[in-house]
Amino acid sequence: MRKKWVFWGFFVFLAGIQFLPILEVEKNPPIEKVPTWDSETTKQFFSRACADCHSHETRWPWYSHVAPISWLIRYHVREGREHFNISRHGLQKKDKSHEAAEELEDGSMPLLPYLWLHPEARLTPAEKRQFVEGLRRTFPPREKSWIE
Ligand code: HEC
Repeated sequence: MRKKWVFWGFFVFLAGIQFLPILEVEKNPPIEKVPTWDSETTKQFFSRACADCHSHETRWPWYSHVAPISWLIRYHVREGREHFNISRHGLQKKDKSHEAAEELEDGSMPLLPYLWLHPEARLTPAEKRQFVEGLRRTFPPREKSWIE
């Protein structure tokens, strides 16, 4: 009897949270300014592995509409765009594009949970090397400075 209540309680909870207006993001705002890619290949790698969080061309899979996962995904997209957004290239005050190659090279990006869900974003070592080079040419790294 108790088990049944726990089950239904959880079900009602899950159904209920679908309606909470937590962290809305504008789905895909218009594209304002795009970078000049060094090659078509770099651009394609970016679409595969980065664009969902760093552009206005986000693909929103079905689970991105289901709470509570949707909250996490929206948060990542919002934060990602805020730091580095190829659909507003050069227009944002905060722009970490010059760190893109480094983030990929040291494995900080793409985020791990994203890679679990997106097999197409996994790159072979050779592809990764090529992509890092492409990012370096498209978004040249800055000299390290004390003021970041
Ligand atoms: C699942 C979403 C997601 C994907 C996919 C993703 N990023 Fe990010 N990215 C984020 C978030 C969230 C942040 C901001 C928080 C942080 O720095 O961890 C971020 C931050 C960054 C930054 C700024 C780092 C800083 O120090 O502020 C760079 C550069 C970056 N990402 C590059 C990339 C590149 C290159 C790819 C593809 C190889 C990629 N990201 C894929 C979500 C993502």
